[in-house]
Amino acid sequence: MISQYQEGLLVETSTFQTREIDTTYENVLENIDSGIMLFDEEGVLCFVNKHMYRMLEMNLFALKGCTLPHLLSHVQISRFKKKQMLRSYREMVCKGKPNYEFIDEFGRYWRVSLISGEQMKGQYLFTVKEISDYKLIEQTAYQNDSLAMLGKLAASIAHEIRNPLTAIRGFIQLLHPHLHQLGKAEYAKIILAEIDRANDIIHEFLTSSKPSVPQVGMIPVSALLKEVVLLTESEALMKGCQIYLHPLQSDMVISGDVKQMKQVVLNMIRNAMEAISEKVDDLPGKIEVGARREGAEVRIDISDNGKGMDICTLDRLFSPFFTTKESGTGLGLSVSDRIIKNHGGCISVSSKVDEGTRFVISLPLIQ
Ligand SMILES: Nc1ncnc2c1ncn2[C@@H]1O[C@H](COP(=O)(O)OP(=O)(O)O)[C@@H](O)[C@H]1O
Ligand SMILES: [Mg+2]
Repeated sequence: MISQYQEGLLVETSTFQTREIDTTYENVLENIDSGIMLFDEEGVLCFVNKHMYRMLEMNLFALKGCTLPHLLSHVQISRFKKKQMLRSYREMVCKGKPNYEFIDEFGRYWRVSLISGEQMKGQYLFTVKEISDYKLIEQTAYQNDSLAMLGKLAASIAHEIRNPLTAIRGFIQLLHPHLHQLGKAEYAKIILAEIDRANDIIHEFLTSSKPSVPQVGMIPVSALLKEVVLLTESEALMKGCQIYLHPLQSDMVISGDVKQMKQVVLNMIRNAMEAISEKVDDLPGKIEVGARREGAEVRIDISDNGKGMDICTLDRLFSPFFTTKESGTGLGLSVSDRIIKNHGGCISVSSKVDEGTRFVISLPLIQ
């Protein structure tokens, strides 16, 4: 249908079509929700619809008679668009792939398709369509699938882990008076608190397919960070890294579930320690923890000079089961992300390979 219509146009004008023809086909092509570009057998652009020239931020006349090399050197077309044009040409015309997908500078997904060959009589028809909605559905379906799998896995390991934990808890309670006599009662307290946290994590895994309701309380940010740093300091030293806790304002208070918050900060410090031990150079490992007020929010900062991450890792960081470690679960950050979202906050991350990583947790403050 398109080629028939285009043939009609080309026979009549033989050059670029600028004249208005009142036909149904033209209206269809102009109003379709995809950008359309047709190159003739000489590689000259012979038709472009409204959607397409708006996408290119050009007017129709500036595109008149252009070839692909003209478009690639056109001063009015942005570098990003030229890059995508060249890539789609390479992928589809040179490598023969039927379509090419890319993400634009605003995070929208696009699909470019090519129709050529006999049916097009030597012409090349490119269509460009936004597919962000479709991608979102695809990603949600993928995540739901992973979460369903996570639920099953958690159910089977929970029994196995909970039983020995209950036994350990019982024996520690029995040992408590003896430890008390030795003046080491706080050891028992720490072990019990850690067992309880492990139990809570298992519970969290079990319920991770459903959003869990946080046990809301007031949490002073400085106390939270001090406690987690204290808990991880010795483990960090053993792994050859130092944790620096920056001076904190004492008046920053958030509302939420303290155990869940501890879990998030702990996950991040553990990841930082692991990233440092996986780094090849001999530089001393350094983890910095800090928090600052920013308007009505607090920004909790956890940065390390570990191995850093490449773009592929950064892309999949929060997906359940995504891990680059041999013995990793890939659950730490996906659970952390959900906890922070449940508390009305968000996590952002920046990283450079071989230089380090910085996580920033933003959370609303209680005024
Ligand atoms: N601070 C960090 N530095 C480098 N890579 C990190 C850091 N934090 C997370 N990652 C990457 O993200 C992945 C997912 O982390 P996580 O969800 O905690 O799962 P796990 O630690 O079990 O692998 C890790 O395997 C690692 O590749
Ligand atoms: Mg982890």
